[in-house]
Amino acid sequence: LSTASAHSPKASPAPLLARRLVIVSGKGGTGKTTVAAALGLAAAEAGRRVLVAEVGRDEHVPRLFGRDGPELAPGLHSLRIDPYDALAEYLALQVGMRPLVERALRNRGFRQLMDASPGWRELITLGKIWHLEQQDAFDLIVVDAPATGHGLTFLDVPRVVVSTLRAGPLRRHAEWVADLVRDAERTVLLPVTLAEELPVRETLQLVERVREQVGVAVDRVVVNAFATDPCPPGVPDLDARLARLAPVPGLPGPDVASACVRHLRSRHELNRRYLDELARRSELPAVVLPFVAEGVRGPEALRGLATPLLAEPT
Ligand SMILES: Nc1ncnc2c1ncn2[C@@H]1O[C@H](COP(=O)(O)OP(=O)(O)OP(=O)(O)O)[C@@H](O)[C@H]1O
Ligand SMILES: [Mg+2]
Repeated sequence: LSTASAHSPKASPAPLLARRLVIVSGKGGTGKTTVAAALGLAAAEAGRRVLVAEVGRDEHVPRLFGRDGPELAPGLHSLRIDPYDALAEYLALQVGMRPLVERALRNRGFRQLMDASPGWRELITLGKIWHLEQQDAFDLIVVDAPATGHGLTFLDVPRVVVSTLRAGPLRRHAEWVADLVRDAERTVLLPVTLAEELPVRETLQLVERVREQVGVAVDRVVVNAFATDPCPPGVPDLDARLARLAPVPGLPGPDVASACVRHLRSRHELNRRYLDELARRSELPAVVLPFVAEGVRGPEALRGLATPLLAEPT
């Protein structure tokens, strides 16, 4: 036990950058790709060799950096894992004869058959991530995982395969992958959510199922795009005060400014309420990232999210 854990009821979690594998997941559109990119950049700037691995049809991370190539910044690489490419690589390693394997994988009938079969994409994608982790070319791999719903299957497939197959190479590979996913020293799941009703509900379900079923460590939640309080400290009645201002010719009336503040305040209060509910029901500390009105594009904007992202969660 460290001194910190001896003095506080709950020890603060190990820093994200101490992990080998951070799997960013959450409901669609909550900011997974943004968070994965910001974390990757922060880690690279702290001197780590970092890979941001995207799982999905499209490649978004290079565009966030305004780049085409795989090197986004010194020490920071990105890769989109295509399950068919990963399968070709795996089969070629296993049976050799890569051209033959690739020809089979391009075959339409074979593709239709594979598209209809569950699980193999997740397993092969995780297998590729496992392989990258083993190679030791990167200190940290940040996975931009599929949206939840798909996200859970994504992490749970190795366990299902292990429990279904008694022996054989597939079971052995699934075991290796499951061991990596469940190793709390190396791997952590980082859920990203908005402080709103539906994303919070989905995040609570994700955390519960991950704890009960998948066994991946989860030690904090990222609450993204949080509306900060428009009222400065000690001025909770800013809207009322603005409403009393004398009108200025050529500008919208004081009632407009007052309504803007009220609107921002209600957003803030709603976010606050769902942040509290999430913290209470998940019993997890939260890392809160502000809503950035100008949007998050380019290294400068991503850097702006790095400090709160790496701060000790509260
Ligand atoms: N903190 C923030 N402030 C303002 N805008 C944000 C913030 N975080 C993300 N965004 C914007 O929200 C949109 C969705 O973000 P992002 O693409 O990272 O979500 P996602 O979870 O990866 O989505 P998908 O499920 O489609 O992959 C983007 O336009 C992004 O720029
Ligand atoms: Mg995304």
